[in-house]
Amino acid sequence: MRISVVVIGLGVALFAGTALAAADLKAGEKAATVCAACHGIDGNRPLDASYPKLGGQYADYLVKALKDYRSGARVNVIMNGQAALLKDQDIDNVAAWFAAQNGQIRDLRDVK
Ligand code: HEC
Repeated sequence: MRISVVVIGLGVALFAGTALAAADLKAGEKAATVCAACHGIDGNRPLDASYPKLGGQYADYLVKALKDYRSGARVNVIMNGQAALLKDQDIDNVAAWFAAQNGQIRDLRDVK
């Protein structure tokens, strides 16, 4: 029982390592220059308080959000247009880059 848990854990760790290795941080940084106009240079200085901070967000959350915008499952006029320009690899790269920045994630509870 214990061995199988270790084996499964190892499999997950290896898989996660592979997923991360597939993202190209340099390409992600380049792609993020477009996003900086609204989300800030490192994803932490948004143009408007109602624009989400992306720095330090989980990469898989960012990937899901971007794919949902691209497919139309998540609707926002601005982001649907932005995500439409991104291929899967661009999404992985840019998500990995924002995830690697310092995090200042907060909710929008106090935004008027
Ligand atoms: C013209 C302004 C603008 C640009 C450029 C822009 N965004 Fe956004 N982004 C927004 C706004 C506004 C929202 C909030 C949309 C909503 O409420 O769903 C958002 C939301 C997001 C979210 C969802 C965050 C969350 O917490 O759920 C992600 C991820 C995201 N943007 C990534 C990007 C990436 C990556 C780029 C560059 C390729 C980019 N954005 C470019 C304005 C912009």
